[in-house]
Amino acid sequence: RALRDPHRPRFHFTSPGGWLNDPNGLSHWNGVYHLFYQYNPLAAAHHRIHWGHATSTDLVHWADEPVALVPGSDGPDRDGCWSGVLVDDGGVPTLVYSGRHGEHELPCVARGSADLTYWIKDSANPVITAPPEGVDITAFRDHCVWREGSGENTVWRQLVGSGIRGVGGTAFLYESDDLRSWRYVGPLLTGDASQNQGELDWTGTMWECVDLFRLGEDEEAGSTDVLVFSAWDEGTTHHPLYWTGRYQGDTFTPTALHRLDYGGRYFYAPQSTRDEHGRRIMFGWLQEGRTDEANAQAGWCGVMSLPRVVTLATDGGLHQAPVPELTELRRERVEVAPGRLADPYTPLPAVRGDQLDIETTLRLAPGATARLVLRETPDGAERTVVEVSRSHDGTDGTLRLHRETSSLDPTVDTEPRYGDLSLGPEGRVDLRVLVDHSALEIFANGRPLTARIYPTRPDEAVGVGIGADGDVALERFEAWQMASALTDGPRPLWP
Ligand code: FRU
Repeated sequence: RALRDPHRPRFHFTSPGGWLNDPNGLSHWNGVYHLFYQYNPLAAAHHRIHWGHATSTDLVHWADEPVALVPGSDGPDRDGCWSGVLVDDGGVPTLVYSGRHGEHELPCVARGSADLTYWIKDSANPVITAPPEGVDITAFRDHCVWREGSGENTVWRQLVGSGIRGVGGTAFLYESDDLRSWRYVGPLLTGDASQNQGELDWTGTMWECVDLFRLGEDEEAGSTDVLVFSAWDEGTTHHPLYWTGRYQGDTFTPTALHRLDYGGRYFYAPQSTRDEHGRRIMFGWLQEGRTDEANAQAGWCGVMSLPRVVTLATDGGLHQAPVPELTELRRERVEVAPGRLADPYTPLPAVRGDQLDIETTLRLAPGATARLVLRETPDGAERTVVEVSRSHDGTDGTLRLHRETSSLDPTVDTEPRYGDLSLGPEGRVDLRVLVDHSALEIFANGRPLTARIYPTRPDEAVGVGIGADGDVALERFEAWQMASALTDGPRPLWP
């Protein structure tokens, strides 16, 4: 059933069926990439979460592995094995996950077999038995754990996502020598929930899925620490943000707050790992934009983003790009000759279909707008529009995704999305757009905007077009059909 759904992506990872949310336990272990994920194999609904597991050697093709964690019939994870990470405990692969029991979510530990497919939960779980005392918290879950120090002086450190009621989201810092007994250190950083409530850069009342890493450590120019979190508020606010700054001792001193992905909740709960090539690789969860009933009927829901390489951008923020390995899936190529974009819109009949990778370089004069139209039906009734524009004074730019006419189905989410871009003095935009049925990932000068679209007539020859208002030079335009990366046959729910 899931395979027949025209909205099911073919080169993004999806679960065999049922429900998928956060990426977890990301790691590159002896040459194999491991992607664990929040999974309900029984229904396309968020309930009694397991850890699904898939492996890859190229970040493109994934093999299903046995379900890694199943909630206990009793005990600290009887209501779900929620988000967490994988660490190397002296050669023993070890998961630190959030065990859910009623309203309680507490860190639990499981040791894995050498091939990371069988997991034994620790009998001493949970390894932190209660949130910090004397603090009125909003929630407590989703860790990141790392080993710090050198020589004899190493220690495990853990951040747990939380929020202090009436103050803001926070990450609590803990320390341990053995991953089993933890000392509370204090809050690493706390946000101010009274600022910009409801805005897409609001830091929320709780921080889910905290992820702390250092970038540029091998470079002479110096390094930057990055604290990624998903801003949350009683189920209404969900968007990924990050602080850049300096992590030192027991504190994180922020320099700036940034939006991680202009799609907001469509790139949620990201997690990253440093792979064996030294790259920082990040995945996020692409939530659905259709109704619970539609998900249940489809029999599957939730898409894993394409893996992204995250680096430092020259403006101090993050530069994000799909891993280069994905170009392996490129097939027939279509090119458009460079020149001025003279018309507001020109269809490109040669670029068709719903599995595409498009790369274009545009140069915008002040006040100009360039647009790329995707998944347009021949009668124009459905079309999705990506727009890049440059301000009249030339100093800044905007990336916009118009989904208002992306679907004739009135029940799907079609809200537009947008965010700021820096275009430089020449007004240059490097745009990369990946279309994979309902999954859409856009990168403009390294800033991502991820979303979902649900055209109702996906079987028609949906096409692509380009156009401009004002003075726009097209310096390059290439598009490729993308092959499917997933197994065509049925995938067992319990591999
Ligand atoms: C974020 C989240 C996490 C939790 C998991 C539950 O999307 O709500 O806070 O660990 O998903 O499935």
